[in-house]
Amino acid sequence: MNKSILLAISAITFVVMSCSTTEKKETVVEDTAVTYDSTDFHTYAQKKDAYVTHLDWDAQVDFDTRIITATATWDFVNVSDTDTIVFDIVDLNISKVTLDNGQETGFKIGAAKPHMGAPLYIAVTPETKKVSITYQSSPSAGAVLWLNPQQTYGKKHPFMFTQSEAILARTWIPCQDSPGVKFTYNAKVKVPTDLLALMSATNPQEKNETGVYEFEMNQPIPSYLLALAVGDLEFGALGDRTGVYAEPGQLAASVHEFGETEKMVQIAEELFGKYAWERYDMLVLPPSFPFGGMENPRLTFVTPTIIAGDRSLTALIAHELAHSWSGNLVTNANWNDFWMNEGFTVYLERRIMDSLNGTDYSDMLSILGSQDLAFSLKDLPAEDTRLKLELKGRNPDDGMTDIAYEKGFFFLSMLKNEFGKKRMDDFLKQYFTDHTFKNITTEQFIVYMDSNLIGADSMKRPNLQIEKWIYEPGLPQNSPEFTSARFQRVGSSLKAWSDGAFSLDEIEVSEWSTNEWLQFIRKLPDTLNIDRYAELDNAYHFTQSGNNEILAIWLEKSIKAGYTKVDPAVEEFLIHVGRRKFLTPLYRALLEVDPSGTRATEIYTKARPNYHSVSTETLDKLLKYSL
Ligand code: BES
Ligand code: ZN
Repeated sequence: MNKSILLAISAITFVVMSCSTTEKKETVVEDTAVTYDSTDFHTYAQKKDAYVTHLDWDAQVDFDTRIITATATWDFVNVSDTDTIVFDIVDLNISKVTLDNGQETGFKIGAAKPHMGAPLYIAVTPETKKVSITYQSSPSAGAVLWLNPQQTYGKKHPFMFTQSEAILARTWIPCQDSPGVKFTYNAKVKVPTDLLALMSATNPQEKNETGVYEFEMNQPIPSYLLALAVGDLEFGALGDRTGVYAEPGQLAASVHEFGETEKMVQIAEELFGKYAWERYDMLVLPPSFPFGGMENPRLTFVTPTIIAGDRSLTALIAHELAHSWSGNLVTNANWNDFWMNEGFTVYLERRIMDSLNGTDYSDMLSILGSQDLAFSLKDLPAEDTRLKLELKGRNPDDGMTDIAYEKGFFFLSMLKNEFGKKRMDDFLKQYFTDHTFKNITTEQFIVYMDSNLIGADSMKRPNLQIEKWIYEPGLPQNSPEFTSARFQRVGSSLKAWSDGAFSLDEIEVSEWSTNEWLQFIRKLPDTLNIDRYAELDNAYHFTQSGNNEILAIWLEKSIKAGYTKVDPAVEEFLIHVGRRKFLTPLYRALLEVDPSGTRATEIYTKARPNYHSVSTETLDKLLKYSL
């Protein structure tokens, strides 16, 4: 037994680990001295001793009990001749563990901690190549949202989906739940025959009468990219290697909305190198989906709230597609390096949008991003405004803020300004090639950048303030400024109107994109009274907007301004939409105008069953809600 595992379990009484006993082998134990893998504090797995390389998952999805019954067979490499391989689990009911010789083996479950769940220790020998874990998930598994028919678009069939990032994969599959462990997988999943199952893998394009679907993911992925969705879904092709799945009633609108996807993949390939995952499909989820999008490989999961009818919110697709390089090919080594996933992806997203819609368009996105960044810099504790995070002992979700996204983006934009677009593009392309299917820490990136980007220009380096950007709070003074003539026009029109110099029909809005509208609403002065809100609403019908980005910011501003005409729309939105990015500011606004929280809690109580655990975790805290 190696030392760290020994340490971990010497403090407890280890029950028999012989392969021949048949009595129930599970014992829940108090482990007082677990030593974690030193590179990732959010896993119990000890990858330096034994790490997995392939998953064979055989599962049944039961909507009545909300339970997944499965066997997960893991191939692994025993690095240190350890007699124990460690997995992460949360509330999995494990009935049996066998080795590749078919014999049952002993296993133990350590004490569970909040967010982390528990370690699952399995007895192996130096010769063991596989372990098979038979288990059931809990109906309240954090990754999974089970929706009844009423919560879907079609209202006839139930729906379920998973969201594994950051550390929720362990709530539905026993795994080494660290971004630093990559594996291939195949799966066989049985679902009710009227539903289709999809995963982050090769996917069926139509239902079959058996309800059994098979999947393969032949490129190595980390556990946070494991994903499953089951529902009444149909496929619509976009291009030869791109398509979209949606509920039948939403398919045509989805096909139209995402019509630019093939072009985006081409642009991305030109910029960053060959697309490594063969197909790029998207799945439109019910509005309960807690994110805008999730970059599950081969099958991005997206919120239906980006279906605006005019393709105006598809920067989100550019973002999830860009993760096919930053994140999915080259992965943050642990959650402290989260900006290596998201900051890079925002940078890539805006490079794609620059090619697709022009620099004046992507610059508007950057300015809106800089406003989000300014808000986060004010709102967060200083130590959480560093790019390199310190999340040890915390929920990694605490680090998933606009700092990673926007400060990361501004850092990379600063480098682009220093070295030029061409050199930065070439550097990134090479970076993806050199790190394909690997992980990266912030520190490894700095070394790589020093030799491959800064190189001979090392006299420039001190001025770049790299360490300040990465290890210190706040925003260094060499952060780039973006300007936008289009936003300047918005600003002067808004000023002229709010000063009373202009009437609304004197503002020329016919060419405005969603970005201009967002800027316009965000910049409404705090002094504006409710009559002027009504005037805007009469002219532009914001309260009825089918564009959820516009609607969300309008509702937020209106709540704060006391424009109560939006009240029914606020309630309807909060009950219908589960996307955390929209929910948090709206509930905060409700709390601001009614600090007792009565109204917020009243709505939340109705809406909560529609939300995924990612959203309820945040909102329970905000609203001090307990069941
Ligand atoms: N990977 C993220 C979503 C995520 C982040 C899940 C952290 C779990 C933990 C995804 O790529 C993302 O960034 N989504 C954004 C899209 C936006 C930046 C265009 C979202 O959902 O709003
Ligand atoms: Zn992202």
